[in-house]
Amino acid sequence: MAKVTIDGRTVDVAPGTNLVDAALEVGVQIPHYCYHPRLSIVGQCRMCLVKIEGMGKLQTACSTQVMKDGMVVYVDHPEVKAGQEGVMEFLLINHPLDCPICDQAGECGLQDYSFKHGQSFSRFNYEDKRTYPEKERIPLGPTVLLNMNRCIQCTRCIRFTHEISKTSELSFFERGAATEIGVFPGKPLDNELSTCVVDICPVGALTSTEFRFAERVWYLDKKPSLCTGCDVGCNITLEHRKGAIKRYKPRFNPDVNDYWMCDFGRGTHQRYRTLPRLAAPRLRKAGQVSMVSWKDGIDALFSKLRVRGDGHAAILGSGFLTTEEAYLWNLVGAQLATPHRAVSVDSGPLRTIPNPQGGITGRDAAPNRRGAELAGLTPGNEGFDAEDLLVGDAASKCSLLIVADSDFGKAAHDPKVIERLRQAKYLVVLGWADTPLAEAADLALPLTTHAERDGTFVNSEQRIQRFQRAFPASGEARPAVDVLAELLARFGVKAGNDAASVFDAMAQAIPALAGLTWRGLPATGASLAKAAPPAGGDASAPASGLTT
Ligand code: SF4
Ligand code: SF4
Ligand code: FES
Repeated sequence: MAKVTIDGRTVDVAPGTNLVDAALEVGVQIPHYCYHPRLSIVGQCRMCLVKIEGMGKLQTACSTQVMKDGMVVYVDHPEVKAGQEGVMEFLLINHPLDCPICDQAGECGLQDYSFKHGQSFSRFNYEDKRTYPEKERIPLGPTVLLNMNRCIQCTRCIRFTHEISKTSELSFFERGAATEIGVFPGKPLDNELSTCVVDICPVGALTSTEFRFAERVWYLDKKPSLCTGCDVGCNITLEHRKGAIKRYKPRFNPDVNDYWMCDFGRGTHQRYRTLPRLAAPRLRKAGQVSMVSWKDGIDALFSKLRVRGDGHAAILGSGFLTTEEAYLWNLVGAQLATPHRAVSVDSGPLRTIPNPQGGITGRDAAPNRRGAELAGLTPGNEGFDAEDLLVGDAASKCSLLIVADSDFGKAAHDPKVIERLRQAKYLVVLGWADTPLAEAADLALPLTTHAERDGTFVNSEQRIQRFQRAFPASGEARPAVDVLAELLARFGVKAGNDAASVFDAMAQAIPALAGLTWRGLPATGASLAKAAPPAGGDASAPASGLTT
């Protein structure tokens, strides 16, 4: 380790640590634009100037490494302050006074540092600023627009495409004051991670076609959550205004998605707008479907569970259930003594997100197949699996079929599959979406979306991660754990009615989760990779291990 003293505070850092990172260790923020912890160092913007004892001129902190004991650095220093003001003055010479109409306003590095490190005047009182005529709205690709007038030429976006996405679409073109960002002819910015350049652009030069002008950022409420697009389990910040989701942004987790997420995942919240919402419990009686109260809905379900007549009872779950919901469904399955407990998950395109461990790949088109299986939703001896129900004729042998997610995958929207599931004597469908499958049900119960509930998902690398409710449920929708706790109570089974208590009970029952608690689960999740092997789908008990 090497000792460095920054503004009077001494810290040991690994040799080679740059001064921006070393300063953070002692709580000192050195302003920077071009530096990004995952990109190469270019020393392009000069914003990170610091004074180092023994060196005549101010130095850039991002390109200065601590190599041995004894370096003394000043950030809070009059020379540094004058240097920062000078850099800000230069950066703003040509920058348009666009803030009132700029989509970055409120989260702009130029605004923030102008207040913190700039000055209230400029000595460059030119009438004509250098502009890039007709380059205010250049589509770089399907998801990103460039306003060249706002670019401070930090090269973060260029380096991202060279070093992270490794697609190299972006580059500088022209020279000197005419230098501009652009793409090569016929090669638009169109890779799986392309919107990440919008996240790392410190100013309003790059904006996302999906989000631009959708909302002023200061109106957004932000909650930590997880993407449901696949089983990578990217950590996201869910940003909404009064329950309307406006955007997903990647949330730093070095063990999963690092600073990044894919473009597909960013758009997955659109589904909550494109599909109609199941508004209230619906019951079919004598061929007539009508809205009923929750009490009547649960009464109807309980009476069918208790007296189901001849034929099998089956539960079909999905990879969108939380681990806690799957666990409670498994308890319901145990009350029915049925081996027919299955999870349907579509295979997705492979999605790989770079991280310091070499990247993480998702294979499912849902976030939690592993969690649902871990919680016990796997067929027991001679139990029906998802294929038996969706492709085979197993549903026609069921006196009761419960589909725990009305939007479980592509098959949920396939009329032929719906017809097959409808062969069950009594079909119950639960979920947030009012799909044709929910319309076909004898009983349909409205549940919350993942933005309206708490829970955990287990990702493709067996990491269990927690996500939080971002806003209250709309209409009569209820979280599945609440509904299932009420149902189980009718069987005399005591189960918690919130994700936290169900998780803690589950951790006691499933060896792979031993020692974990809801409150104690680390913010970056916990790896279950060294857990015991699967128990093999016992019909009465939760599974004790994991499948890959
Ligand atoms: S577009 Fe943004 S990220 Fe790219 S060089 Fe300009 S300021 Fe930097
Ligand atoms: S890789 Fe998967 S989890 Fe990550 S953002 Fe994309 S779809 Fe979402
Ligand atoms: S952050 Fe150091 S020069 Fe840009």
